[in-house]
Amino acid sequence: MDDLKAKYLGQIADAGDENALEAIRVAAVGKKGEVALKMRELGKMTPEERQMAGPALNALKDEINSALSAKKAALADAALDERLRTEWLDVTLPTRARRQGSIHPVSQATEELTAIFAELGFSVAEGPRIETDWHNFDALNIPGHHPARAEMDTFYMHRAEGDNRPPHVLRTHTSPVQIRSMEKQGAPIRVICPGGVYRADYDQTHTPMFHQVEGLALDKDISMANLKWVLEEFVKAFFEVDDVELRFRASHFPFTEPSAEVDIRCSWDNGQLKIGEGDDWMEILGSGMVHPKVIAAGGIDPEVYQGFAFGIGIDRLAMLKYGIPDLRAFFDSDLRWLRHYGFAALDMPNLHGGLSR
Ligand code: PHE
Repeated sequence: MDDLKAKYLGQIADAGDENALEAIRVAAVGKKGEVALKMRELGKMTPEERQMAGPALNALKDEINSALSAKKAALADAALDERLRTEWLDVTLPTRARRQGSIHPVSQATEELTAIFAELGFSVAEGPRIETDWHNFDALNIPGHHPARAEMDTFYMHRAEGDNRPPHVLRTHTSPVQIRSMEKQGAPIRVICPGGVYRADYDQTHTPMFHQVEGLALDKDISMANLKWVLEEFVKAFFEVDDVELRFRASHFPFTEPSAEVDIRCSWDNGQLKIGEGDDWMEILGSGMVHPKVIAAGGIDPEVYQGFAFGIGIDRLAMLKYGIPDLRAFFDSDLRWLRHYGFAALDMPNLHGGLSR
């Protein structure tokens, strides 16, 4: 009996899990276990022997049973301790950085050009994207029958039958903000007006919504020479180079006279867009001397004030500066693209610290 006791208590102490314990229980104190077999032998014993062996066997059975349940409880405790050890959570860890976003190249370019024009004395003005067709067209010397209305692929706002309010459009350019700024501020005036504009057009360099910045400078003696200087200064500062090749092309806009479109030299080799080299030209802006009728529409006397205006494609500037070949990707909201071309939120562009670092 001492041998049995030593054997089973030893096995129980060594058991690593509940299955092992169960196997020991069956072998030791189960119906056909070793202790039960010994109990059967009691029948063959003399009464004196039986009086000794009977209680001793029962005591052995009890001892093994209580060792089994003590070990079972110890195993359960150990399992719980192990779970608590592995499943903990450190609530004092720092949180994940909250800002995972980046500044979109259009926002970046807008900040950069705003900083440049601020140095040149231009303040920022804004106007609505849903615009009266008077501000978008008529006030800019584009009457109802004018082909420019059709050329601009205008999105017209739907009007219910019987609704007699003036027609509205999604503004096709930022030029209506010229009118609104003149109405509000009078002359002399020097403003830029950045913002979104809309035209029904879609290819590698055109999207139905894009961005322009309008410039307007009116005073008593502003000339085309001032326009050319301002644009050259702007383009050099924006592209952060000493020289950029620009091409001023005589052109026509109803709201300027004379008018010039400006192209920038670039190349498109292997889908890579580069400025300042190559045989291609990319149109980046329209400009000219503000038409007297437009100045009058803004409530200013064209006999006293004159000046220039320009409209620059911001998205195109960003494409050229940052070598982004397809305009459509600007508006896909693809996170990988935004991470690749985006800018750090705290690098505010300024002329002294650097625009695009
Ligand atoms: N509004 C013109 C356009 O969208 C650009 C422009 C602005 C031209 C100001 C001349 C003067 O194309």
